[in-house]
Amino acid sequence: MTKTILINKENRIKKSYIDKVDLVKTTDIEEKEILVEQETLYSFNRLKEYLKNINIEIGICSGYRSIEEQEEIEDYYRKKYGQEYCDLYVAPAGYSEHHTGLAIDFYIKIDGKYPVNDPEVYKDIDKYEEVSKYLKDYGFILRYPKDKENITGYAYEPWHIRYVGKFVANIIYSNNLTLEEYLTDFKGLIAVNKEKGMTSFDVVNTISKLFGIKKVGHTGTLDPIAEGVLIVAIGKATKIVELVTSETKEYVSTVVLGKRTDTKDITGKVIEESNNIDTSKLEEVIKSFEKTYEQEVPIYSAVKVKGKKLYEYARNNESVELPKKEVTIEKIELLDVNNNEFTIKTKVSKGTYIRSLIDDIGEELGCHATMKTLTRTKQASINIEESYTLDEIANNNFKLLSIEYVLDYPVEVVDKTLEKKIRSGQKIENRFNVQDKIIFKNKDDVLLGIYELDNDMLKTWKNFTN
Ligand code: DAL
Ligand code: ZN
Repeated sequence: MTKTILINKENRIKKSYIDKVDLVKTTDIEEKEILVEQETLYSFNRLKEYLKNINIEIGICSGYRSIEEQEEIEDYYRKKYGQEYCDLYVAPAGYSEHHTGLAIDFYIKIDGKYPVNDPEVYKDIDKYEEVSKYLKDYGFILRYPKDKENITGYAYEPWHIRYVGKFVANIIYSNNLTLEEYLTDFKGLIAVNKEKGMTSFDVVNTISKLFGIKKVGHTGTLDPIAEGVLIVAIGKATKIVELVTSETKEYVSTVVLGKRTDTKDITGKVIEESNNIDTSKLEEVIKSFEKTYEQEVPIYSAVKVKGKKLYEYARNNESVELPKKEVTIEKIELLDVNNNEFTIKTKVSKGTYIRSLIDDIGEELGCHATMKTLTRTKQASINIEESYTLDEIANNNFKLLSIEYVLDYPVEVVDKTLEKKIRSGQKIENRFNVQDKIIFKNKDDVLLGIYELDNDMLKTWKNFTN
């Protein structure tokens, strides 16, 4: 069950969603039986307990509503306050997030009494505003905040809260967003410190589930044997995946001499061995790889030849000519030598396979070499020290990186006239002396787009406003 489901004037609830919700019984402020989604009620009760300790008493006045119940509510309010009121405060049947069981309307008891209707709430607005500060700690957001009517479609409803889970609630709260903005406009990157054993796809999946956002992408595969920095783009930041992927990367790797395996790492099957290990020329051979050269793509990779992935040829024992790709080893350093093992640090271009580089070094040394461990210590401008494990991320202990932070391009704050042009994707004059790309923001710190040099003009590379 996705807790970040968006139900609003444009998005109707699906029957398949309602059918799967786990609803549990509770009582409202008038002691009537009502239903609320299980986790939502649990968290609401924790919030209620907390507030009680600081002398604020709250109670539920509405939870889950069936389509029929919402129809009755609409009728009631239309007759009592008119259509205009309904447009601002009551969702049409089928379009209320109360159908999800994740929404709760609550009242605060003041001087021993609960308010008798919604309009009465506003006279104690200070109390509701105070409560709204604690919502995120229990996984709730204020769903229809002040001044966001044009986005949510509803007026400020201090009583209507929505359960999205603690993780998402914290992000929405700290970035001052509505659920609409979060789901359609969110853009951020996380430097994940991937642990061994996981695929890059596992990481993407975990982040996507945590954020409740489908659009998530990584910026350069790290195999299960590898660990370290994997920058993951979320929401609209996926627009820059290609750019981050093409940045150089740094790795630290340990190598075992005297062995060659089919996968070019120690998890593979040994295919060649040698006892003739001589490390006296190691430093020299390693340094000789600080160059641009044609590297053979390893057979255990997802690179496609004639529409088929290379590892599929390997699995089926079919022969295939391995493609070669030009790679640049910008820097290579020998960090340590220990008997039959050594450690290297490398800075390489996009598409370099460290396992192939190690294999090439082994052949040059004449005694074979196999990759034992691989740690990506830097990707783009992000060092491993700035990365977070998935556990840390799940516990909200991480830094969300902005597109401007990750990309090393100049940032320009533009006026309204230029903003209009950027929003509509028009070319603009290069009065910023751009050599490659430039990032444009407006005065409210909204990222508008990335432009690139096109002859002597600047044209859109990515527009973030659509
Ligand atoms: N009051 C909210 C908009 C609803 O009726 O669902
Ligand atoms: Zn409500």
